[in-house]
Amino acid sequence: MDFAISIDPHAPLSLYRQVYEELRQAILSGRLASGQKLPSTRSLAQLLGVSRATVTQSYELLLSEGYLETIMGSGTFVCRQLPDELLSAAPIDSKLQPANSSIHLSAYGESLSDQAFLRIPEPDVKISFSYGRPAFDKFPIDLWRKLISRHCHSHADVLDYTEDSMGYQPLREAIASYLSRSRAVNCSAEQIIIVGGSQQGLDLITRILIDRGDGIAVEEPGYLGARRAFLAQGASLFPVSVDQSGLIISELIKSIIPQVKLVYVTPSHQFPTGAVLSLPRRLELLAWAQKSGAMIIEDDYDSEYRYGERPIPALQGLDQGNSVIYVGTFSKVLFPALRLGYLVLPQNLVYVFARGKWLADRQCSLLEQYALTDFITEGHLERHIRRMRSLYDQRRQTLVHALISHFGDRVKILGENAGMHLMVKINTNLHDNEIVQRAALAGVGIGAAYPQYLKDSPGSEFIFGYAELNEQQIQLGVKRLSQVIS
Ligand SMILES: Cc1ncc(COP(=O)(O)O)c(C=O)c1O
Repeated sequence: MDFAISIDPHAPLSLYRQVYEELRQAILSGRLASGQKLPSTRSLAQLLGVSRATVTQSYELLLSEGYLETIMGSGTFVCRQLPDELLSAAPIDSKLQPANSSIHLSAYGESLSDQAFLRIPEPDVKISFSYGRPAFDKFPIDLWRKLISRHCHSHADVLDYTEDSMGYQPLREAIASYLSRSRAVNCSAEQIIIVGGSQQGLDLITRILIDRGDGIAVEEPGYLGARRAFLAQGASLFPVSVDQSGLIISELIKSIIPQVKLVYVTPSHQFPTGAVLSLPRRLELLAWAQKSGAMIIEDDYDSEYRYGERPIPALQGLDQGNSVIYVGTFSKVLFPALRLGYLVLPQNLVYVFARGKWLADRQCSLLEQYALTDFITEGHLERHIRRMRSLYDQRRQTLVHALISHFGDRVKILGENAGMHLMVKINTNLHDNEIVQRAALAGVGIGAAYPQYLKDSPGSEFIFGYAELNEQQIQLGVKRLSQVIS
């Protein structure tokens, strides 16, 4: 099959994006007819001299946008029912702008016009092992309603602007004391800024500390939400490998000292592998940061959940040199729609971050901040975390047992002692997307791990979130999965 695709390894556009654009244009112009079969990812990769992951990523994007479809056992085809809006679509760049406008996007806007996933789309299925969601049905919603309505009645000022864009002072005090008790974070309320979830925290950090071209070292594989924020600001990313003890600091030190301004890490529970950054490596990383002048972003997104092992104190608490910005969130311990998180900053950065927060959105909602303050100070937060820890521990064990009993030694389970998800390597000849699609047809949602890699992924790795599923759903989900993979 002659595809006449041309890609340029030296072009600024990533390779997968070039393959995507070429295929998309071929479909829109009719060069690739509806219903036409595409080559396998392996053979197109060979034809183009690129990695298979590159082609897979382009196919994924085209699949998610409806240009392609897969037919189980037969392959990937140009969609037979292309929506009219796609057929009349102009090229991506002009589609984003009004046709008669000459307005140019800023460099930041340009980087956002890329249609790469911000998060991996999830299929609409009965049993979803999607990661990152807590058990919503166990959240004490009646209590929350009571706390919200308590403040609706008693504080007219919850409706007003506040002078303090850093967040409600009693909430910052409650968080400082919680962090010092539970995570050995060393801070006062004056170093804490309340933000709209970790994502706003990461966005502020990037905008305030990064100019285009500045280097950020990231874990490989690593969290897509952070990487997208860094790339949108024009950062150059340096992937650093992760093993069972977390980020390999020697690799960081050897390869990239001069260029790197920030290092982004998830030391309590590396995302997605689940590795815990060992104490010696923590100390090594801190010593390196002090020597090189780089700052460490510590994303402690689900550190509350450790099973059977004592938590390792946060990097921030070990730091002697103002090298760490600690990022925390209530998305996992409470619920993500709350959109409340916090940054713990070195003193010298507080002023500029407070102004950055003001310019971004002035303040987080006061009503939720008041309710959350009571939730923490009245002891509900730690009680809820204790309950969820024991529930997630059971669910995690059920998942591990189900995987072992259905797959035996065909699975390798990583990061099983912490968090709300497992990473699982499945020994199979099937392609990752094929597995995801077969699972979806059987009503089961799982996510392949390859989009979390900057470079080529080893493949056959999947992320299983389990916090939201009950034991029966977990068992049934794994059973169905084993049936479609066998
Ligand atoms: C590594 C990591 N950090 C942070 C978050 C949470 O982000 P937010 O606080 O914006 O909801 C997630 C969510 O899945 C995550 O995986």
